[in-house]
Amino acid sequence: AQERTLSIIKPDAVAKNAIGEIESRFEKAGLSIVAMKMLQLSREQAEGFYAEHKERPFFRDLVDFMTSGPVVVQVLEGENAILANRELMGATNPREAAVGTIRADFAESIDANAVHGSDSAESAIREVDYFFRGDEICPRA
Ligand code: CMP
Repeated sequence: AQERTLSIIKPDAVAKNAIGEIESRFEKAGLSIVAMKMLQLSREQAEGFYAEHKERPFFRDLVDFMTSGPVVVQVLEGENAILANRELMGATNPREAAVGTIRADFAESIDANAVHGSDSAESAIREVDYFFRGDEICPRA
């Protein structure tokens, strides 16, 4: 089915000038970028986005990292976009990420892991809505 998913290029990947290469991987895989913006997240924004992890031991480090520099957030649209994006990203821990995935190629650690992607249909809806108003999304014909 046609789906939308929320993708974030994290501060580590922005800092190493990898925005273009990462967006290119989405496009070459047949996912269309239908919304996009660059943001410096506030702590409040990062905490709200990752609210489901609030009780996890890594939450503070996660918020510190996600506010350490600009991020690029985009909505990817396409056939099975949620799973397709997760396959392009590879495992959360880059040491476990398959060869050729974004995290294998650009990530340094489980914290500085280059990208985020929605993990389910429910979180995709919540996460797209967290960053984009309806009129900021430009679906393809
Ligand atoms: P992300 O997909 O953005 O979702 C939450 C983030 O927390 C995750 O990627 C990792 O960068 C970070 N994180 C740090 N430690 C862990 C951990 N032990 N398990 C899962 N995520 C972690």
